[in-house]
Amino acid sequence: MLVFLNNKILSHEEIAISPFDRGYQFSDGVYEVIRYYPEKFFKLSAHISRLKYSLREMEISEPDLQNLESVLYELVNRNNLTNEPSIAYIQITRGKQFPRRHIYDENIEPTLFIYVEKFPVKIDDMKSGAKVGLENDIRWHRCDIKTIALIPNVLSKSRAVKSGLTEIVWYRDGIVTEGTQTNIFFVKDKTLVTTPLSTNILAGITRATVIELASSLSIPCIERKVNIKELYDFDESFLASTTSEVMPVIKIDEKKIGSGLPGQITKLLQSGYRKLYL
Ligand code: PDD
Repeated sequence: MLVFLNNKILSHEEIAISPFDRGYQFSDGVYEVIRYYPEKFFKLSAHISRLKYSLREMEISEPDLQNLESVLYELVNRNNLTNEPSIAYIQITRGKQFPRRHIYDENIEPTLFIYVEKFPVKIDDMKSGAKVGLENDIRWHRCDIKTIALIPNVLSKSRAVKSGLTEIVWYRDGIVTEGTQTNIFFVKDKTLVTTPLSTNILAGITRATVIELASSLSIPCIERKVNIKELYDFDESFLASTTSEVMPVIKIDEKKIGSGLPGQITKLLQSGYRKLYL
C-alpha cells in the first residue's frame, strides 16, 4: 500500500517514524477519518476545518495543507481504490523532539501521515441495527479535540465487541455524551433529540449533516442534555459517524429502544443520508 509521510508517497513497508516523535511518547497529535465514496471525498472541507481546529486547540503548528486534497486523490488512485468505498486517515503529531521532555519545543516540524484503505459501507448492520452498552465516560474534558489519545475509546470499544455489542455509549454525571466512535441521536414523537455541542463531545461531521438533513425533511431537532434515566422512553435511537453513517440502535444494555427494530425516522434519515453521496 502507498501512504503519505511528510511530503513523500512511499510503500507502507518502507516508512519509519522516530520513537522520539511526540505522538509516540505523549499521544501528542490529532487525526481525522474521512469517507471516500466513489469518486469523491465526502464533507472534505468540514473535516479539514475540524483538523485545523484540533491543531489550534493543541497548539500544534499547522503543516502545509495546501496540497492535502490532491494527495488524498492521488493515494486513492495509486492504490486502485477509485471505485471502492474507502476511508482516509490523516494524522498530525507535534513532531520529533529529543530528548523526551513534557514541555514542547516550538520549533519542531509536525509529522503528517496519511493513508487510505478500502472500507465498505456497513449495509447489513445498518439494516439490522446495533446493540450498544452503557459506560461511565472517564475521558478528559476536551473531547471536542480529535486527539490520538484514545485509550478510553479503545478499551470501551474492545469491551463492547467482546460482549457482542457494536458500540459503547458513554454518560458523564448521568448525562449521555457520545459513543467511542460515534455521536448519538434519539427520537421522541417524531422529533430528533441529540446531545448539545460542548467540550464533552466531538462535533461530529455526520451529526451536523444529519441535523441539516432533518431540517430539509422538516423533522424537528432539539439539542438538549439526555439523562440516562430517560433512555427507554425514546421511540428510536441511532448512532452517527463517518464510518457508521446513520446506524439504528435497537437495544441499550440489553433493553429494547421502542419496538426493538430500526425506527421509521431513523430509516428515513438513513436513506436520506445515502442519497447525499450515491
Ligand atoms: N470517529 N465521536 C467520537 C468520539 C468519534 O471518534 C467520532 C468519529 C465521532 C463522529 O464524528 P464524525 O461524524 O465526524 O465521523 C463522534 C472516527 C470516525 C473514528 O475514530 O474512526
